[in-house]
Amino acid sequence: MQLLREPLELRRACDDARARGLTVGLVPTMGALHEGHAALVREARKRADFVAVSVFVNPTQFGVNEDLARYPRTLDSDMAKVEAAGASAVFAPSEGGMYPPGDETRVRVGATATDLCGAHRPGHFEGVATVVAKLFAIAGPCTAVFGRKDYQQLQVIKRFTTDLFFPVTIIGLRTVREIDGLAMSSRNAYLTPEQRSAALGIPRGLTAASRAFDAGERRAGVLASLARAEVEPIATSIDYVDVADPDSVRAHKSAEIVGERALIALAIRLGGARLIDNMVLGEEPPPLP
Ligand SMILES: Nc1ncnc2c1ncn2[C@@H]1O[C@H](COP(=O)(O)OP(=O)(O)OP(=O)(O)O)[C@@H](O)[C@H]1O
Ligand SMILES: [Mg+2]
Repeated sequence: MQLLREPLELRRACDDARARGLTVGLVPTMGALHEGHAALVREARKRADFVAVSVFVNPTQFGVNEDLARYPRTLDSDMAKVEAAGASAVFAPSEGGMYPPGDETRVRVGATATDLCGAHRPGHFEGVATVVAKLFAIAGPCTAVFGRKDYQQLQVIKRFTTDLFFPVTIIGLRTVREIDGLAMSSRNAYLTPEQRSAALGIPRGLTAASRAFDAGERRAGVLASLARAEVEPIATSIDYVDVADPDSVRAHKSAEIVGERALIALAIRLGGARLIDNMVLGEEPPPLP
Protein backbone atom coordinates (compact mmCIF):
# COMPACT_ATOMS: atom_id res chain seq x y z
CA MET A 1 0.00 0.00 0.00
CA GLN A 2 1.32 3.43 -0.92
CA LEU A 3 1.51 6.40 1.48
CA LEU A 4 0.96 9.61 -0.47
CA ARG A 5 1.69 12.96 1.15
CA GLU A 6 1.13 15.50 -1.62
CA PRO A 7 -2.05 16.28 -3.59
CA LEU A 8 -0.20 15.84 -6.89
CA GLU A 9 0.96 12.37 -5.77
CA LEU A 10 -2.66 11.33 -5.27
CA ARG A 11 -3.62 12.79 -8.64
CA ARG A 12 -0.83 10.89 -10.37
CA ALA A 13 -1.69 7.62 -8.60
CA CYS A 14 -5.36 7.93 -9.65
CA ASP A 15 -4.44 8.94 -13.21
CA ASP A 16 -2.02 6.00 -13.45
CA ALA A 17 -4.69 3.59 -12.18
CA ARG A 18 -7.21 4.79 -14.77
CA ALA A 19 -4.54 4.64 -17.49
CA ARG A 20 -4.08 0.96 -16.59
CA GLY A 21 -7.83 0.45 -17.06
CA LEU A 22 -8.65 0.36 -13.34
CA THR A 23 -11.55 2.14 -11.66
CA VAL A 24 -10.84 4.44 -8.72
CA GLY A 25 -12.52 4.44 -5.29
CA LEU A 26 -12.14 7.19 -2.69
CA VAL A 27 -12.87 7.07 1.05
CA PRO A 28 -12.41 10.44 2.79
CA THR A 29 -11.78 10.28 6.56
CA MET A 30 -10.27 12.24 9.42
CA GLY A 31 -8.34 9.21 10.71
CA ALA A 32 -8.60 7.54 14.14
CA LEU A 33 -10.17 4.80 12.11
CA HIS A 34 -12.60 2.17 13.38
CA GLU A 35 -14.60 -0.71 11.95
CA GLY A 36 -17.10 1.72 10.36
CA HIS A 37 -14.30 3.16 8.25
CA ALA A 38 -13.08 -0.35 7.37
CA ALA A 39 -16.58 -1.14 6.08
CA LEU A 40 -16.41 1.95 3.83
CA VAL A 41 -13.08 0.75 2.43
CA ARG A 42 -14.42 -2.76 1.79
CA GLU A 43 -17.45 -1.27 0.03
CA ALA A 44 -15.20 0.94 -2.10
CA ARG A 45 -13.05 -2.08 -2.94
CA LYS A 46 -16.17 -3.95 -4.12
CA ARG A 47 -16.98 -1.11 -6.49
CA ALA A 48 -13.50 -0.02 -7.61
CA ASP A 49 -10.09 -1.55 -8.30
CA PHE A 50 -7.80 1.12 -6.87
CA VAL A 51 -9.00 2.51 -3.54
CA ALA A 52 -7.46 5.58 -1.92
CA VAL A 53 -8.28 6.47 1.69
CA SER A 54 -7.64 10.04 2.72
CA VAL A 55 -6.71 10.77 6.32
CA PHE A 56 -6.89 14.49 6.97
CA VAL A 57 -8.17 16.36 10.02
CA ASN A 58 -9.68 19.23 8.09
CA PRO A 59 -9.30 22.51 9.98
CA THR A 60 -11.97 24.41 8.03
CA GLN A 61 -14.78 22.17 9.31
CA PHE A 62 -13.99 22.79 12.98
CA GLY A 63 -15.48 25.73 14.89
CA VAL A 64 -13.24 27.93 17.04
CA ASN A 65 -14.16 26.18 20.30
CA GLU A 66 -14.17 22.67 18.88
CA ASP A 67 -11.71 19.79 19.27
CA LEU A 68 -9.33 20.37 16.31
CA ALA A 69 -6.18 20.44 18.47
CA ARG A 70 -7.01 17.34 20.52
CA TYR A 71 -8.59 15.29 17.71
CA PRO A 72 -6.90 11.84 17.82
CA ARG A 73 -4.14 11.33 15.24
CA THR A 74 -3.13 7.69 14.78
CA LEU A 75 -1.71 7.35 11.25
CA ASP A 76 0.29 4.14 11.82
CA SER A 77 -2.65 2.10 13.09
CA ASP A 78 -4.95 3.75 10.51
CA MET A 79 -2.67 2.50 7.74
CA ALA A 80 -2.69 -1.05 9.07
CA LYS A 81 -6.51 -1.03 9.28
CA VAL A 82 -7.17 0.24 5.78
CA GLU A 83 -4.53 -2.00 4.25
CA ALA A 84 -6.29 -4.99 5.84
CA ALA A 85 -9.57 -3.71 4.40
CA GLY A 86 -8.13 -3.63 0.88
CA ALA A 87 -6.97 -0.04 0.31
CA SER A 88 -4.36 0.59 -2.35
CA ALA A 89 -3.16 3.95 -1.03
CA VAL A 90 -3.45 6.27 1.94
CA PHE A 91 -3.42 9.99 1.24
CA ALA A 92 -2.32 11.90 4.33
CA PRO A 93 -1.55 15.48 3.30
CA SER A 94 -0.37 18.34 5.49
CA GLU A 95 -2.64 21.30 6.24
CA GLY A 96 -0.45 23.45 4.01
CA GLY A 97 -0.73 20.89 1.23
CA MET A 98 -4.51 21.13 1.18
CA TYR A 99 -4.67 24.86 2.02
CA PRO A 100 -1.54 26.42 0.51
CA PRO A 101 -0.68 30.07 1.16
CA GLY A 102 -3.21 32.29 -0.58
CA ASP A 103 -6.00 29.70 -0.46
CA GLU A 104 -9.32 31.51 -0.01
CA THR A 105 -11.99 29.73 -2.05
CA ARG A 106 -14.85 27.92 -0.29
CA VAL A 107 -17.83 25.89 -1.43
CA ARG A 108 -20.98 27.71 -0.28
CA VAL A 109 -23.62 25.20 0.77
CA GLY A 110 -27.36 25.81 0.87
CA ALA A 111 -30.61 24.68 2.43
CA THR A 112 -29.50 21.06 2.89
CA ALA A 113 -26.86 22.35 5.30
CA THR A 114 -29.10 24.77 7.22
CA ASP A 115 -30.93 22.69 9.85
CA LEU A 116 -29.78 20.01 12.33
CA CYS A 117 -25.96 20.13 12.60
CA GLY A 118 -25.87 23.11 10.24
CA ALA A 119 -27.75 25.18 12.82
CA HIS A 120 -25.31 24.25 15.59
CA ARG A 121 -21.96 24.27 13.80
CA PRO A 122 -21.71 27.48 11.77
CA GLY A 123 -19.38 27.00 8.80
CA HIS A 124 -19.01 23.26 9.39
CA PHE A 125 -20.61 22.04 6.17
CA GLU A 126 -18.90 24.73 4.12
CA GLY A 127 -15.61 23.32 5.43
CA VAL A 128 -16.68 19.75 4.71
CA ALA A 129 -17.88 20.59 1.18
CA THR A 130 -14.68 22.53 0.47
CA VAL A 131 -12.30 19.77 1.53
CA VAL A 132 -14.33 17.02 -0.17
CA ALA A 133 -14.48 19.10 -3.36
CA LYS A 134 -10.69 19.46 -3.22
CA LEU A 135 -10.34 15.68 -2.80
CA PHE A 136 -12.71 15.03 -5.73
CA ALA A 137 -10.80 17.48 -7.91
CA ILE A 138 -7.49 15.82 -7.01
CA ALA A 139 -8.72 12.23 -7.44
CA GLY A 140 -10.73 12.74 -10.64
CA PRO A 141 -13.47 10.40 -11.84
CA CYS A 142 -14.18 7.89 -9.09
CA THR A 143 -16.68 6.28 -6.74
CA ALA A 144 -16.59 7.88 -3.28
CA VAL A 145 -18.02 6.12 -0.23
CA PHE A 146 -19.41 7.91 2.85
CA GLY A 147 -21.23 6.78 5.99
CA ARG A 148 -24.87 7.42 6.77
CA LYS A 149 -23.95 8.07 10.40
CA ASP A 150 -23.20 11.55 9.07
CA TYR A 151 -26.50 11.65 7.21
CA GLN A 152 -26.71 15.39 6.62
CA GLN A 153 -23.08 15.46 5.49
CA LEU A 154 -23.87 12.74 2.95
CA GLN A 155 -26.80 14.75 1.58
CA VAL A 156 -24.72 17.94 1.40
CA ILE A 157 -22.01 16.06 -0.51
CA LYS A 158 -24.53 14.51 -2.92
CA ARG A 159 -25.97 17.98 -3.52
CA PHE A 160 -22.72 19.79 -4.34
CA THR A 161 -21.48 16.85 -6.44
CA THR A 162 -24.57 17.21 -8.63
CA ASP A 163 -24.56 21.01 -8.60
CA LEU A 164 -20.87 21.32 -9.51
CA PHE A 165 -20.86 18.42 -12.01
CA PHE A 166 -18.12 16.46 -10.26
CA PRO A 167 -17.46 13.18 -12.11
CA VAL A 168 -17.97 11.24 -8.88
CA THR A 169 -20.51 8.58 -7.94
CA ILE A 170 -21.50 8.93 -4.28
CA ILE A 171 -22.32 5.83 -2.23
CA GLY A 172 -23.83 6.08 1.26
CA LEU A 173 -23.20 3.12 3.56
CA ARG A 174 -25.37 2.08 6.51
CA THR A 175 -24.15 3.01 9.99
CA VAL A 176 -21.87 0.41 11.56
CA ARG A 177 -22.67 -0.04 15.25
CA GLU A 178 -21.04 -1.57 18.29
CA ILE A 179 -22.66 -4.80 19.45
CA ASP A 180 -24.78 -2.84 21.97
CA GLY A 181 -26.13 -0.44 19.33
CA LEU A 182 -23.91 2.63 19.77
CA ALA A 183 -22.81 4.03 16.41
CA MET A 184 -19.07 3.70 15.91
CA SER A 185 -17.35 7.08 15.95
CA SER A 186 -13.79 8.27 16.40
CA ARG A 187 -15.09 10.62 19.08
CA ASN A 188 -16.33 7.68 21.19
CA ALA A 189 -12.68 7.53 22.30
CA TYR A 190 -13.34 10.66 24.41
CA LEU A 191 -15.92 8.82 26.57
CA THR A 192 -15.17 7.58 30.09
CA PRO A 193 -16.50 4.05 30.86
CA GLU A 194 -19.50 5.62 32.62
CA GLN A 195 -20.24 7.93 29.69
CA ARG A 196 -19.82 5.00 27.30
CA SER A 197 -22.63 3.13 29.12
CA ALA A 198 -24.78 6.26 29.31
CA ALA A 199 -24.38 6.75 25.55
CA LEU A 200 -26.71 3.80 25.02
CA GLY A 201 -29.54 6.27 25.58
CA ILE A 202 -28.90 7.29 21.96
CA PRO A 203 -29.76 3.96 20.29
CA ARG A 204 -32.58 3.51 22.80
CA GLY A 205 -34.03 6.87 21.76
CA LEU A 206 -33.89 6.12 18.04
CA THR A 207 -35.39 2.70 18.66
CA ALA A 208 -38.26 4.16 20.69
CA ALA A 209 -39.11 6.53 17.86
CA SER A 210 -38.85 3.70 15.33
CA ARG A 211 -41.24 1.47 17.29
CA ALA A 212 -43.79 4.29 17.51
CA PHE A 213 -43.40 5.03 13.80
CA ASP A 214 -43.94 1.36 12.95
CA ALA A 215 -47.07 1.43 15.14
CA GLY A 216 -48.43 4.30 13.05
CA GLU A 217 -47.26 7.44 14.85
CA ARG A 218 -46.66 10.23 12.29
CA ARG A 219 -46.56 13.39 14.43
CA ALA A 220 -43.03 14.82 14.12
CA GLY A 221 -43.08 16.30 17.61
CA VAL A 222 -44.18 13.05 19.24
CA LEU A 223 -41.53 11.01 17.41
CA ALA A 224 -38.82 13.49 18.42
CA SER A 225 -39.95 13.63 22.04
CA LEU A 226 -39.85 9.83 22.36
CA ALA A 227 -36.18 9.91 21.37
CA ARG A 228 -35.53 12.99 23.49
CA ALA A 229 -36.94 11.23 26.57
CA GLU A 230 -34.14 8.65 26.34
CA VAL A 231 -31.28 11.09 25.75
CA GLU A 232 -32.33 13.87 28.13
CA PRO A 233 -31.34 11.94 31.28
CA ILE A 234 -27.91 10.92 29.94
CA ALA A 235 -26.77 13.95 27.93
CA THR A 236 -24.55 16.68 29.33
CA SER A 237 -26.45 18.87 26.88
CA ILE A 238 -28.56 18.39 23.78
CA ASP A 239 -27.83 20.22 20.53
CA TYR A 240 -30.97 18.89 18.85
CA VAL A 241 -33.32 15.96 18.49
CA ASP A 242 -35.19 16.58 15.25
CA VAL A 243 -37.41 14.86 12.75
CA ALA A 244 -36.64 16.01 9.22
CA ASP A 245 -37.34 15.31 5.58
CA PRO A 246 -34.83 12.60 4.55
CA ASP A 247 -34.17 14.16 1.14
CA SER A 248 -34.06 17.90 1.82
CA VAL A 249 -32.88 17.55 5.46
CA ARG A 250 -35.26 20.36 6.43
CA ALA A 251 -36.48 19.93 10.01
CA HIS A 252 -40.18 19.39 10.56
CA LYS A 253 -42.09 21.59 12.98
CA SER A 254 -43.44 19.56 15.86
CA ALA A 255 -47.07 19.84 14.68
CA GLU A 256 -46.21 18.45 11.25
CA ILE A 257 -47.26 15.00 10.08
CA VAL A 258 -44.46 13.05 8.40
CA GLY A 259 -44.74 10.79 5.36
CA GLU A 260 -43.79 7.15 4.85
CA ARG A 261 -40.11 7.95 5.41
CA ALA A 262 -38.76 10.37 7.97
CA LEU A 263 -35.28 11.18 9.22
CA ILE A 264 -34.82 11.28 12.97
CA ALA A 265 -31.46 12.74 13.90
CA LEU A 266 -29.82 13.96 17.07
CA ALA A 267 -26.64 15.50 18.40
CA ILE A 268 -25.77 15.51 22.08
CA ARG A 269 -22.80 16.32 24.21
CA LEU A 270 -21.66 13.69 26.65
CA GLY A 271 -18.78 15.05 28.69
CA GLY A 272 -16.16 16.16 26.18
CA ALA A 273 -17.66 14.31 23.22
CA ARG A 274 -20.22 15.52 20.73
CA LEU A 275 -22.06 12.46 19.43
CA ILE A 276 -24.49 12.26 16.52
CA ASP A 277 -26.78 9.51 15.31
CA ASN A 278 -29.82 9.10 13.08
CA MET A 279 -32.04 6.67 11.26
CA VAL A 280 -34.55 6.90 8.45
CA LEU A 281 -37.88 5.76 9.89
CA GLY A 282 -39.77 3.58 7.46
CA GLU A 283 -36.58 2.59 5.66
CA GLU A 284 -34.05 1.05 8.04
CA PRO A 285 -34.26 -1.22 11.06
CA PRO A 286 -33.73 0.49 14.45
CA PRO A 287 -30.36 0.17 16.22
CA LEU A 288 -31.81 -2.18 18.87
CA PRO A 289 -33.83 -5.34 18.24
N1 LIG B 1 -20.24 4.08 12.41
C1 LIG B 1 -20.04 4.39 11.14
N2 LIG B 1 -20.58 3.64 10.16
C2 LIG B 1 -20.40 3.96 8.85
N3 LIG B 1 -19.66 5.01 8.44
C3 LIG B 1 -19.09 5.78 9.38
C4 LIG B 1 -19.26 5.52 10.76
N4 LIG B 1 -18.59 6.48 11.45
C5 LIG B 1 -18.04 7.30 10.54
N5 LIG B 1 -18.35 6.89 9.30
C6 LIG B 1 -17.99 7.55 8.05
O1 LIG B 1 -16.59 7.63 7.93
C7 LIG B 1 -16.27 8.76 7.12
C8 LIG B 1 -15.21 9.56 7.81
O2 LIG B 1 -15.75 10.10 9.00
P1 LIG B 1 -14.89 10.60 10.20
O3 LIG B 1 -13.45 10.41 9.89
O4 LIG B 1 -15.37 11.91 10.65
O5 LIG B 1 -15.19 9.48 11.33
P2 LIG B 1 -16.13 9.60 12.57
O6 LIG B 1 -16.15 8.31 13.28
O7 LIG B 1 -17.41 10.23 12.13
O8 LIG B 1 -15.34 10.60 13.47
P3 LIG B 1 -15.99 11.70 14.44
O9 LIG B 1 -16.80 10.98 15.40
O10 LIG B 1 -14.81 12.34 15.04
O11 LIG B 1 -16.72 12.63 13.52
C9 LIG B 1 -17.57 9.53 6.91
O12 LIG B 1 -18.11 9.20 5.64
C10 LIG B 1 -18.44 8.99 8.01
O13 LIG B 1 -19.81 9.07 7.73
MG1 LIG C 1 -17.09 12.37 11.66
